[in-house]
Amino acid sequence: MPSYKLAKSQRTVGLGLTLCAFHTVYPQAMASLLSQPYGHLSALLLLLCVAPIFYLTGLAVYRIFFHPLAKHPGPLVAKVTDLYSTYHAWKGDRHIDFWRCHEQYGPIVRFGPSSLSFNSATALKEIYGFKANVRKGDFYLAFPATKDSFSTHSAVDKATHARKRRVLSHAFSDSAIKSMEKYILSHVRQLCTNLGEKGAGSRNNLFAPEKSGRVWSEAKNMSLQADYTTFDIMGDLCFGKAFGMLERPDNRFAIDLISNAAHRHLMCGTYLPLHEYHIDKLLFRKIAGMRERYMQFSKGQAAERMQMGEDVNRKDFFYHLLKAKDPETGKGFSTPELWGESNLLIIAGSDTTSTALAASIFYLVHNSRVLAKLAAEVRAAFSDVEEICGGATLSKLQYLRACLDEAMRMSPSVGGLLPRQVLHGGMEVEGHKLPEGTVVGVPHYGIQHNPAYHPEPFEYKPERWIPGSEPDITSESVNVAQSAFCPFSIGPRGCIGKCKHTSSPQACLRQRH
Ligand code: HEM
Repeated sequence: MPSYKLAKSQRTVGLGLTLCAFHTVYPQAMASLLSQPYGHLSALLLLLCVAPIFYLTGLAVYRIFFHPLAKHPGPLVAKVTDLYSTYHAWKGDRHIDFWRCHEQYGPIVRFGPSSLSFNSATALKEIYGFKANVRKGDFYLAFPATKDSFSTHSAVDKATHARKRRVLSHAFSDSAIKSMEKYILSHVRQLCTNLGEKGAGSRNNLFAPEKSGRVWSEAKNMSLQADYTTFDIMGDLCFGKAFGMLERPDNRFAIDLISNAAHRHLMCGTYLPLHEYHIDKLLFRKIAGMRERYMQFSKGQAAERMQMGEDVNRKDFFYHLLKAKDPETGKGFSTPELWGESNLLIIAGSDTTSTALAASIFYLVHNSRVLAKLAAEVRAAFSDVEEICGGATLSKLQYLRACLDEAMRMSPSVGGLLPRQVLHGGMEVEGHKLPEGTVVGVPHYGIQHNPAYHPEPFEYKPERWIPGSEPDITSESVNVAQSAFCPFSIGPRGCIGKCKHTSSPQACLRQRH
């Protein structure tokens, strides 16, 4: 039963309990009211005032004590309403709340009336693996701007998703990615130029001039520089033109639009009536307004690129999307679908990669030992910065890979829980039989900070990914860590850009060394 049906049955039970309570508690009061002049009107008014209170109380009582998930622990408010999740989505601390709840309540937490969070590697495979009897949760219904613009990411139906993913996968083939590498590298060069700039700020720098006479460059907000870089890269890869954010401020407004659009999706996804009845536009006017502007922005980018058609000298994602046909159905993407995909790719590719890059830089500059070891590895492998590009030498840089993985473990770009909904027939997770419609998931930040898999979880320790790098790091311990590492999610809905992401942060980091 889909979760909305589960919710409907819960409401019916709530209503039943309300009527029983009303009938039991108030028969005399009603009888005396009805005997008064205008008694029927007063009785109706009383009913209208009191019934919602009884109804909501009945529903809460049912959800706390009689619901099929009632035995699982969790915050009391979360057992009663999904607004608990919406509050944390609004506040921006949902990932930390999942971690805190698992610390407090144990490996299984009820984080919504029909929702369970699991903090184990077994559950990760059972829920997100290829054999899982789940689909993406109703949460994703809040993402598309129109019903025709579902993307590969937001498609809930399994067959629809499979078709879209087959078409999109053409754009992510090894040769397609390789042919775009030169564009990635040109933005990395620009980033390095920006970092070396000796602007007005450099004169005020506490450390300038150094004893050697060298002047420090101007201090930069690296999180913004990471944003500009990844957005420029995605512009080139998706639409065949960079947004020019590294060089000029004109298009930088789009970053704010995207983070607001993502914030709005998260809040509305956790409580769908906000999306369905457009309540977000009333309650979160600024955020909803920014999301609207983002939709226009992405539509504009897609329209501009579509006008260029397939007759372009570079094979960006759009080239493949316009051309590709599903080998099974022979169908390509319609115009609204193309818009949906471009809308998705800008968010999915830039914001996530930017977070991974910013996190890596943050941990490296706060861990001088690790930074020195990484610099030594990169310098030993390449004698000139221009030698650095994708290929065998780069793939051999074990410590670079470990530094990135460790940053994504500690600060995953997608930190919360990706909800999956149990399909007809139910399923078992960690030995618990779950009915159809139950929402299940594993929170990324939570499991990646679970000491059972990642000892000293708040320590930035790239060595944990390399067997033999320390006496207690063995192949087994690395396997255990890997089993609970999911920054890209896993299974049929795992990240399609996983191979590509390694090119951008890796390219940026290695060139800075
Ligand atoms: C460090 C970088 C990245 C991280 C951490 C990341 C993470 C993720 C995660 C966790 C998902 C699953 C989302 C869900 O189930 O709702 C996902 C899906 C996806 N990602 Fe990424 N991603 C990254 C980079 C990229 C890039 C560069 C692209 C494209 C250029 C991309 C495109 C996609 C797409 C299309 C999906 C949907 C796949 C599907 O549902 O079949 N991602 N990503």
